[in-house]
Amino acid sequence: MPESPIRKLVPFAEKAKKNGTKVLHLNIGQPDIKPPNNVIKKINNFQIQSVKYSHSAGIEEYRKKLAKYYSQIAPTISYEDILITTGGSEALSTVLNCICDPNDEIIIPDPYYANYNGFSNSSNVSIQPIICRIENGFKLPSIDQFEAKINKKTKAILICNPGNPTGALYTFKEIKALAKIVKKHDIFLIADEVYREFVYDKHHHYSILGLKNIQQHTIIIDSVSKRYSMCGARIGAIVSKNKDIINTALKFSQARLSPPTFGQLAAMEALNTHKSYFKTVIEEYNKRRVLLVNTLNEIDGVICPMPKGAFYCIAQLPIRNAEVFCQWLLEEFRFKNTTVMLAPANGFYSQKNMIHNQVRIAYVLEIEKLKLAAEIIKRGLEKYQD
Ligand SMILES: Cc1ncc(COP(=O)(O)O)c(C=O)c1O
Repeated sequence: MPESPIRKLVPFAEKAKKNGTKVLHLNIGQPDIKPPNNVIKKINNFQIQSVKYSHSAGIEEYRKKLAKYYSQIAPTISYEDILITTGGSEALSTVLNCICDPNDEIIIPDPYYANYNGFSNSSNVSIQPIICRIENGFKLPSIDQFEAKINKKTKAILICNPGNPTGALYTFKEIKALAKIVKKHDIFLIADEVYREFVYDKHHHYSILGLKNIQQHTIIIDSVSKRYSMCGARIGAIVSKNKDIINTALKFSQARLSPPTFGQLAAMEALNTHKSYFKTVIEEYNKRRVLLVNTLNEIDGVICPMPKGAFYCIAQLPIRNAEVFCQWLLEEFRFKNTTVMLAPANGFYSQKNMIHNQVRIAYVLEIEKLKLAAEIIKRGLEKYQD
């Protein structure tokens, strides 16, 4: 199993903290945003008499309510097209297990969410990367490049939209082009849409659920972790109109008995959240995004494309080795008795030795802390001897 690049430098951060240094964590997508008040209230007032397994596919009432949420995108979604999982993480590994035999392949735009490596390794699936470039804002490469990678072992194209770690957001044209080749070659299009709501600058998110003619080929990975800042609830979902997928996924789900019961109850309450919650949260992320990315781009030698969605960006720094730089920040650099933890971006690329000078930054801290973090990165780069 590959080590998570997000957590690799944790021992250095822990040591810094033990020595009294404050560490600003921009390395992990753990939002500081509060979950909706109604959810917190619900959790604090659980009237629970027994602690039971739920149905392996998830609590039916929750699935029915969730179907209403998805019907805003695809009116035909019913609760039978939804299977509740232990986070988006389990949804991903279950889907790979459902569609792949050992040594099968899935195609993924690269860089990608680093745990895709862990899930594919444990399912014995090989990732075929399609390289995206920082120079053009990690735009989706041409469809020909995807098609060139398709062979007998290819089972799916997996996209993350909006993207972690790049913040890329795919256009309707791009989504449709992917759908076309997926149908042509009779494979699946899996979309990890756990950041669906987080889209900025009046851009629109196009869910593959909305594609009418390829419903037998589309699978959505979803989660409440980011949408409602409920990472610890551990609730996600697989959504597909393809009955074979849902029935096969159910067999895997039966083996693990049930998704978390309390998490489902909290997630069910989350569906009652007022729209204004998202407006406030998206405005907050947007402020952070603009502040961070503009500040970074003002630093000599830094390139940081403005992300269109999610809450991450990748920045190219004027250094030779981001891993060494990130460790140096944690071990040696202090400003106002504070330092910053970043994630070296090489762990998000399929080839470990391909990109050395990029970091992934999660803008999950409030504005004042983020300002300080950007200042620390700036001062750190000025002082750092490569
Ligand atoms: C793109 C993406 N997919 C899936 C997940 C898994 O999230 P969870 O298992 O908390 O739902 C994450 C978590 O960071 C993610 O960034």
